[in-house]
Amino acid sequence: MSTLAVYPGSFDPLTNGHVDIISRGARLFDRIIVAVLVNAEKSPLFTPEERVEIGRAVFRDQPNVEVDTFDGLLVDYVERRGAQVIVRGLRAVSDFEFEFQMALMNQRLKPKIETVFMMPAEKYTYISSRLIKEVFALGGRVHGLVPDTVETRLRAKRSRGKGA
Ligand SMILES: Nc1ncnc2c1ncn2[C@@H]1O[C@H](COP(=O)(O)OP(=O)(O)OP(=O)(O)O)[C@@H](O)[C@H]1O
Ligand SMILES: [Mg+2]
Repeated sequence: MSTLAVYPGSFDPLTNGHVDIISRGARLFDRIIVAVLVNAEKSPLFTPEERVEIGRAVFRDQPNVEVDTFDGLLVDYVERRGAQVIVRGLRAVSDFEFEFQMALMNQRLKPKIETVFMMPAEKYTYISSRLIKEVFALGGRVHGLVPDTVETRLRAKRSRGKGA
């Protein structure tokens, strides 16, 4: 039997921390679906479509990485896709409490779905989408922290914003 994993998140935008977790997942499982949560935030920087485009571009050479969107209950999506595993990343102790709660709730909802936590390389442990957006908006350098395509798109958004 092949193992299919789902890595859910908002990915607004995809960071090199996410990319690291996805690459690890792609080595561990037969297939991994990066599932972009739609409707989570009222004013995201990137639309769900843009986030999917970015993910597909970054992983275009990895056939066992799929990028999709979902809304509603995560475990329902996981079941619908025929997946067995939910992948989540842990950066620090601060992630743990929330992730632990979510994992136990999901376990209660669907006992057969396992949550697997993965740690990124140490150099990515301080990266979050929120921090990337904040630093970039204030003119800071995010090179090396996000895929090149994300950096390009961030710049495009900024210059469009200025032109408006
Ligand atoms: N740098 C990172 N290293 C490892 N895991 C990460 C990293 N950034 C996010 N994750 C994990 O990826 C999953 C999806 O996270 P999410 O889309 O919320 O990203 P985020 O960077 O935390 O964004 P935000 O700042 O908007 O909350 C979560 O399990 C989160 O813990
Ligand atoms: Mg988060």
